[in-house]
Amino acid sequence: MKTAFLKVDPERFDDGELELPARLIAGGELVAFPTETVYGLGASALNGEAVKEIYCAKGRPSFNPLIIHISSPDEADRYAVTDDRYRALSEAFMPGPLTVVMPDRGKVAPEVTAGLGTIAVRCPVHPVARALIRLSGVPIAAPSANRSGKPSTTTAEHVLHDLGGRIPCVIDGGPSSVGLESTIVKLCPDGTNVLLRPGGITLEMLRETLGTVSVSDAVLHPPAPGSQPESPGMLLRHYAPDAPLYLIRSDRPDAVVRFLREAAADPENAVLSYAGTVPPAPNVYELGNGGPEEAKNLFSLLRLADRKEIKRIYAPLPESDGIGLALQNRMLRAAAFRIKEI
Ligand code: TXA
Ligand code: MG
Repeated sequence: MKTAFLKVDPERFDDGELELPARLIAGGELVAFPTETVYGLGASALNGEAVKEIYCAKGRPSFNPLIIHISSPDEADRYAVTDDRYRALSEAFMPGPLTVVMPDRGKVAPEVTAGLGTIAVRCPVHPVARALIRLSGVPIAAPSANRSGKPSTTTAEHVLHDLGGRIPCVIDGGPSSVGLESTIVKLCPDGTNVLLRPGGITLEMLRETLGTVSVSDAVLHPPAPGSQPESPGMLLRHYAPDAPLYLIRSDRPDAVVRFLREAAADPENAVLSYAGTVPPAPNVYELGNGGPEEAKNLFSLLRLADRKEIKRIYAPLPESDGIGLALQNRMLRAAAFRIKEI
């Protein structure tokens, strides 16, 4: 299959430029599109056959449910049973990098929700994503646009690398500004709230709006053998490069830096490090300073570092406050929970 590559300037475009992808989505075909978090691989959430195609293109196990993307926060009520908590969240953070899990109204194809009885809803802020949803006239079910298990894609080039030839269209709307998948919070009917996946909207921000929010065990711990995780995407190994990634932890930050410097001396190692801590070399990749910049670069650095000659990748384990919780969650999975204490 030939993949059409459509460049759209998110700052200035008109609806006509999205006519082809909107028609493809409405007609039951797949389109990869930009969002502020990561690129999504979209299909009409009302068309079960189209949703199945997503699983095929990604090579994803079919028990994993998908997020539906809507063009305005009020549309959630058509598909989910919303309440005051949803309205508070939507006022504070939507459109934006937040997904809310609520009881399902059964309006979308069963392939989307994998029969969980709940549905995950998100309204992205990226103008191209919102226009595409509006013009398609349907909610768009979309996982991240990568091959299953690989790091999520934050540029259209990454999408082409993973899915070129397997899907009819990729929209290039520039690099994703957040660079990590949306925060997922579940609003339970008993009034409790659970963070299922940390992201750009931090736990601290959610607590300010909702009060108590607990953190799912799956966020920082590997699943118990044989257990069914609350958010099935939180598998043991996810976002993973081909070379094994090891996370370095110590009570002494200088010991971590010393370890990474020594590791960088071996050209078969790649090292991800904080700005200015390890001298520049072809196998050293700078993460930024542990803030939003680091989040934005993480997945592309994992892809860059994963060159053929590289046998191991080393990176510091991030702190767990603010955006650090999301970084730690993604890096633990990319490393299949391999932590090296020094
Ligand atoms: O930022 C994002 O959320 C991106 C962009 C494209 O919007 N999408 C994304 O989708 O990351 P995906 O499929 O890679 O991750 C969705 C996660 C999975 O871990 C899935 O298990 C979880 O959401 N999920 C979906 N529906 C759920 C539900 N009803 N209950 C609990 N978890 C759910
Ligand atoms: Mg994903």
